[in-house]
Amino acid sequence: MRGYSSAAIAGLLAMVGAASLGDLCTVSAIQEALPANGTLLGIDLIPSSVTANVVKNATAGSDMGSGNSDSTKTYDYCNVTVQYTHTGRSDAVSLWYFLPSPDDFQNRYLGIGGGGYSISMGSGGLSAGLAYGAVAGTTNGGFGDGFSTSADEVNLLGNGTINYEAVHMFGYKALGEATVVGKALSRGFYSLATDSKIFTYFSGCSDGGREAWSQIQRWGEVYDGVVAGAPAFRYSHQQVGHLTSNVVEHTLKYYPPPCELEKIVNLTIAACDPLDGRTDGVVSRSDLCKLKFDIKSTVGTPYYCAAENHYNPGLGFSKRHSKRQSAPAGSGTSYQPAQNGTISAKGVEVAQTILDGLKDLQGRQAYVSAQPSSDFADAQTEYDNATSSWTLSIASTGGEFVKRFIMLEDGDNIDSLDGVTYDTMVEWMTKAMVMYSDSLQTTLPDLTVFSSHGGKVIHYHGESDSSIPAASSVHYYDSVRSVMYPNLPYHESVDALSDWYRFFLVPGAGHCGTSQSQPGPWPDNLQSVINWVENDVAPDTVPATVASGPLEGESQPLCAWPLRPYWSNNGNAVKCEYDQASIDSWTYSFDAFKLPIY
Ligand SMILES: *[C@@H]1O[C@H](CO)[C@@H](O)[C@H](O)[C@H]1NC(C)=O
Ligand SMILES: *[C@@H]1O[C@H](CO)[C@@H](O)[C@H](O)[C@H]1NC(C)=O
Ligand SMILES: *[C@@H]1O[C@H](CO)[C@@H](O)[C@H](O)[C@H]1NC(C)=O
Ligand SMILES: *[C@@H]1O[C@H](CO)[C@@H](O)[C@H](O)[C@H]1NC(C)=O
Ligand SMILES: *[C@@H]1O[C@H](CO)[C@@H](O)[C@H](O)[C@H]1NC(C)=O
Ligand SMILES: *[C@@H]1O[C@H](CO)[C@@H](O)[C@H](O)[C@H]1NC(C)=O
Ligand SMILES: *[C@@H]1O[C@H](CO)[C@@H](O)[C@H](O)[C@H]1NC(C)=O
Repeated sequence: MRGYSSAAIAGLLAMVGAASLGDLCTVSAIQEALPANGTLLGIDLIPSSVTANVVKNATAGSDMGSGNSDSTKTYDYCNVTVQYTHTGRSDAVSLWYFLPSPDDFQNRYLGIGGGGYSISMGSGGLSAGLAYGAVAGTTNGGFGDGFSTSADEVNLLGNGTINYEAVHMFGYKALGEATVVGKALSRGFYSLATDSKIFTYFSGCSDGGREAWSQIQRWGEVYDGVVAGAPAFRYSHQQVGHLTSNVVEHTLKYYPPPCELEKIVNLTIAACDPLDGRTDGVVSRSDLCKLKFDIKSTVGTPYYCAAENHYNPGLGFSKRHSKRQSAPAGSGTSYQPAQNGTISAKGVEVAQTILDGLKDLQGRQAYVSAQPSSDFADAQTEYDNATSSWTLSIASTGGEFVKRFIMLEDGDNIDSLDGVTYDTMVEWMTKAMVMYSDSLQTTLPDLTVFSSHGGKVIHYHGESDSSIPAASSVHYYDSVRSVMYPNLPYHESVDALSDWYRFFLVPGAGHCGTSQSQPGPWPDNLQSVINWVENDVAPDTVPATVASGPLEGESQPLCAWPLRPYWSNNGNAVKCEYDQASIDSWTYSFDAFKLPIY
């Protein structure tokens, strides 16, 4: 095509009918489709950096908020990368887009979040857009070459020096910029009129869920629909909170064998499963479990676990450690001897203190814990061959944050908990909240810009998530409700909020997926938010399907908070009921802090 301008080619194509993917997906056509310098404030695109190639017969992927797409269906798309620099800053940020074939495109754009300290899920996440006819986009945040450098590799310029640009890019900026460039590129690529509507979505879970909220809070006018799963927001509390279990063990001077805690979880699940009206291996009402089941009743029960080289998946997302040829944050393989014993009073005391949530030394509430029936991921201890005993293993998910983001020292973890008390935890949380209130904390509760532009959000959280407590999501929902509708009575404020924000707990689910110990349902929230945005079908419940176990394939509606599920009619139907005692059990005021905690 050399020798013809893109405009001339486009004109010719218009005469012969719609352009094919092959015609549109060339470096020169993409360069032509990019927004000109000056159109997007502060963003200067670098046309010479463009790469473009057609990919055929690809299958759709899934980010965690989208459904299991039909794996037999295949798609063709244009794979594009391009760099930009910020006006006045000689940085380079890489963007990556999958643009579906014109006959598949449904005027949708989908921003995809990352996880852990990664801002991007790479091509696996991008291919989630294919099943929805959406252009999908991601960014490397400007953290380094390629798309695999994570934010914790670049948050420090050196010991003691925060890289504020990287922190803010990770906090909210990079993903918003990826979306505004992606929409402009889509307009050019598909020759859409400048005022034509591109339905704009964002979906992510874990840190991707925090990123989803960052987009609502900071780029509210840009998005029509957002799916935010198990958000790692209230970042300072969330990250420091990963150390709570270890500080409890250290304070109570008892390091439980992992099998003892696992047995407590198994007995909790068995006792609480029927409380929701159906015995199906899933605790759909962890609130009733909290109110009715006393884990002290497990003292004296025998437990046994065979010897193994135990793999702990940790947070599972950070690339930082794998680059160094070791495992992701918090993960690792360790030898565990056979564990044969009975649940001790001390073991139950540790478990109960963790479940009560972090309190300062005066007993004031500082944070939430995972719900009962979640596993005790952060409480894992390590076996010491030399002393034949179980010892402290500091959760690097929390320790790395304290080391790099609060102490501002290069490192993967803190060395010990010597001198660390519950009050130290509160001090760390307070300090980090102030340091990162404008970037990572991600709990701004005034969402007027988003709601007044007609944005809709589906927020979801696995009820048995042990990495990010489900009650953290409940607390934010309630912060938004009370800040947005301060003068309405409770039920009216819930009604008003439900015009644009609905929250769903996923029974039995763990962190951004179903859990092995409770094989329950999982929703396709991206489809639900699309129906809400484009067809005005507000989800009173979201449909979910059981993906494994004896009930595999069963479809279950998930109840919208504050309604809670109860199986009635001999376990054949879910009723969504209002239960004040249950709601109260999820409600905390964090009086260990002087500032409001949203
Ligand atoms: C836009 O600005 C960048 C950075 O100065 C430059 O590299 C690029 O060539 C400019 N784009 C055009 C189309 O001039
Ligand atoms: C894609 O699939 C079609 C139909 O199955 C097949 O004819 C074609 O050769 C495939 N193309 C590539 C590049 O694999
Ligand atoms: C997409 O483009 C990037 C950058 O050129 C390249 O590394 C990657 O392999 C491409 N993916 C496919 C599936 O072609
Ligand atoms: C807990 O239950 C699971 C099955 O869900 C089982 O595989 C495991 O061995 C049990 N753990 C203990 C300590 O009994
Ligand atoms: C565990 O210990 C008890 C009591 O010492 C013993 O009876 C039992 O056989 C042991 N179980 C296993 C699997 O070793
Ligand atoms: C601890 O002892 C077990 C069993 O004797 C052995 O397999 C394992 O390698 C030892 N681990 C270490 C770190 O020495
Ligand atoms: C930075 O801090 C780490 C952890 O305290 C230390 O090991 C390292 O030597 C320091 N680096 C420099 C360049 O001082």
